[in-house]
Amino acid sequence: MEIIDAIHTRHATRAFQDTPVPIETLTAIVSDAQHTPSWGNSQSWQVAIATGNSLANIKQRFADASDAGQAENADLEKVHRGDFSTFASQNMGHWVGTFRPVIESDSTTYWDSRAHLYRAPAIAYLLLDHDPNSWSIYDLGAFSETLMLAAAGRGVQSLVSYELVKYPDIVREELGLRSHQVVAMGVALGYEQPDKKLNQYRSDRVPVDQILRIVD
Ligand SMILES: Cc1cc2nc3c(=O)[nH]c(=O)nc-3n(C[C@H](O)[C@H](O)[C@H](O)COP(=O)(O)O)c2cc1C
Repeated sequence: MEIIDAIHTRHATRAFQDTPVPIETLTAIVSDAQHTPSWGNSQSWQVAIATGNSLANIKQRFADASDAGQAENADLEKVHRGDFSTFASQNMGHWVGTFRPVIESDSTTYWDSRAHLYRAPAIAYLLLDHDPNSWSIYDLGAFSETLMLAAAGRGVQSLVSYELVKYPDIVREELGLRSHQVVAMGVALGYEQPDKKLNQYRSDRVPVDQILRIVD
C-alpha cells in the first residue's frame, strides 16, 4: 500500500476479529516504526506486545477492576475536554456529536467490545523510561503513528486508546515490566470486523485553512 493510501485508510477500529496477527507481522510493524525520527536519534521508546495468555489476563483483570469500581490511574494523566483550547474543545464536541449516533445504533457491540479491549488479538504497549521529557513524549506520538501506518500497509487495523492503559500496574505485572517503565499508550492491532457500523464510521477533520497558514 502506498503511504498516502495508508494515511487515508487508517482509522480507529473498535471491533476486531479473533484471528491472531502472526508474530512475524507484529515484529515487522514495530521494525517499520523504528524508522520514526526522534530527538538526537534518542529512540526513547520500548514496545511490549501482549497476545495470547498475557492479553487474556489483561482483558480479564481490566474488566474485573472496572466492575469493582477501581480508580483509573493511567501513567500519563487523563485529560478532559475542559483541559483543551476552545478550538480543540469544539472539535471534540463535533466528534462526539457525529460518533454518538453510531454508538447508539449498536450500543451492545460498542460497550461489549470496549469492555473486552475491543477484542483485539494483540495490543502493543508503548513504553518510556520514568519521568519522560516532553520531547520523548513527542517522539513517542510520532512512533505511534508510524506504527499504525505500517500496520495499515501490512493489512492490519489499529486503535490507539486510553482504555488500554487506564490500569498500568496490571499491564506491568502481566508483561513483566519494571516498576519505573511508563506505560504511555496502547495500540490495539488486528483484523477488523468490517460489517460493524463502529468500524465503518469515519471521523472528519476541520478544513485545512483552519489550521494552516503559509506565509510568503
Ligand atoms: C491519545 C488518544 C487517546 C484515545 N483514546 C480513545 C478512547 O479512549 N476511546 C476511543 O474510542 N477512541 C480513542 N482514541 C481514538 C480517537 O477517538 C480517534 O483517533 C479520533 O476520533 C480520530 O478518528 P480516527 O482515528 O478514526 O481518524 C484515542 C486517540 C488518541 C490519539
